[in-house]
Amino acid sequence: MSVEHYLSLCGGKNNITRVLTPDDELIFAVKEVSQVGTSHLIIAIREVLGEHQVVFKRTHSFDDEALLQIGRYIAEQQQIALAVKAEPVDCDYRPSWHISPPQGLLNDPNGFIYHNGEYHLFYQWYPHACQHKDKYWAHLTSADLVNWQWQPVALTPSDWFDAHGVFSGHALSHENQLMLFYTGNTRIGEQRDRHTTQCLAISQDGFHFTKHGPVIEGLPDGVTPHIRDPKIIRHNDAWLMLLGAQTTELKGRLAVYRSEDLLDWQFEGVFGQEFGDFGYMWECPDLFTISEISFAVIGPQGIDSFSAHNTIPHHNGIARATLSTENGLELSDFQHLDYGFDFYAPQTMLTPDGRRVMCGWMGLPDEIDQPSADNGWIHQLTAMRELSVNNGQLVQWPVAEIETLAQPEQTVTLSNSAYNLETKSFDLTLELEWGSQLNLFEGSQHKLTITADAEHQVLVMDRSQTLNRAQDTIRELPLTSDTVKLRILADRSSVEVFVNGGEAVMTSRVFTAPDSTGISLNGKPTQARIKRLNASHAPFKS
Ligand code: FRU
Repeated sequence: MSVEHYLSLCGGKNNITRVLTPDDELIFAVKEVSQVGTSHLIIAIREVLGEHQVVFKRTHSFDDEALLQIGRYIAEQQQIALAVKAEPVDCDYRPSWHISPPQGLLNDPNGFIYHNGEYHLFYQWYPHACQHKDKYWAHLTSADLVNWQWQPVALTPSDWFDAHGVFSGHALSHENQLMLFYTGNTRIGEQRDRHTTQCLAISQDGFHFTKHGPVIEGLPDGVTPHIRDPKIIRHNDAWLMLLGAQTTELKGRLAVYRSEDLLDWQFEGVFGQEFGDFGYMWECPDLFTISEISFAVIGPQGIDSFSAHNTIPHHNGIARATLSTENGLELSDFQHLDYGFDFYAPQTMLTPDGRRVMCGWMGLPDEIDQPSADNGWIHQLTAMRELSVNNGQLVQWPVAEIETLAQPEQTVTLSNSAYNLETKSFDLTLELEWGSQLNLFEGSQHKLTITADAEHQVLVMDRSQTLNRAQDTIRELPLTSDTVKLRILADRSSVEVFVNGGEAVMTSRVFTAPDSTGISLNGKPTQARIKRLNASHAPFKS
């Protein structure tokens, strides 16, 4: 029986929205169940969460290529439906220079890389609602890390191995090709059993991607289907793939595979046992070396917080990493990467001039109730941050390119009475005296406060007087330094507070009324340097 015959039984290729291949079944989800024909080949028609699925027994006519062809049909339909989703909805909260989704939900940055003379950045995107559903890879390119161009969506959840989400992963620029390694996510049956594969898509021109399907299909021993977010590194003449993983004892770990050719992967083991009980899952690993120190980024879920005010179970941090033939990957000295409300799943890349640049998701899993969602979009990425090492400590700092967005610097004396900046997008530098409080986004109803609390030796960010809807309103950064030097990047509904040269950062979304363009200071009047940041290069459809 030909593939075409199956498609016509399902009401034609345009009626098919999903393909799944659990065990020896072949399942097509259809738009209109009324268009499905009758045939003894159909062994069931099921309804799973409102979706009609036509179930066949899988036969030999469905080889890998036939299945990829079905995926291409579904991808065509998905791309057509995207045309209107790439049109940005208007919204006062929309950042002027950070990356935000035109519509729908953005989460992790993906595939951040410099390839053939350009920066490429992808992100997890659900275009059709502000919800975590079947993820796409949106694609942006840039010559300078600040002006981003929207490109055709790189990957859609069209295939039997990624039908419920083209999940996160990294890119590799290799032999002139742009290779995307990602996790294919599918959910099978009423129970929505999770099936996970590690997949590859390749582009010759950097813009059109061909899916090659899974390069790792089964699960390694001792690991649950929560194994995802591949990062490829070169080590001792071989390729290593790092994956965030959960062991069958429900402990977060890193799984490592090894390959000579990037296609055939051998499982090396799970690593990170040194951390013992350290969360039930680790997501989104990265690994890089700066000044001869190797760091691993991990996103442990279910670990203690750095502050009693923070009850969110999702964290992100960095550990020292040692890779050796004898012991594999060893981790030590975990440190949180951010002390604000919204930071997760960062990725780094190397610029042609040798800088390690990081970009993160300014959001958290589970967080989908924000004011911008009323206008049809949610979440944004962080500013691009250069990473360096100072006295063995990782330091984050806005990349120099952000200066190109700045208007001339102004020196302002901040005091009790608010200085009206007339914009919510700025770059502010000041030294906050212990005991004083800085008020940002100040207007008739709202403000975000940042207090250097001398008694408790913490820098406190309080968003209780803003439009944020989450219940938790306070973050604290433990701080023992004599001085509290701040550089703050603001962009309409976000702040990134770089403390003492970037030794610590507090990143947060901040929703306020349009008149919240004031800045004031409770404490001794203090001079601040301010640059308004003025980009309006919305990185959407070109
Ligand atoms: C992290 C994460 C990843 C996963 C992706 C799905 O935010 O859960 O582990 O690949 O999001 O969108």
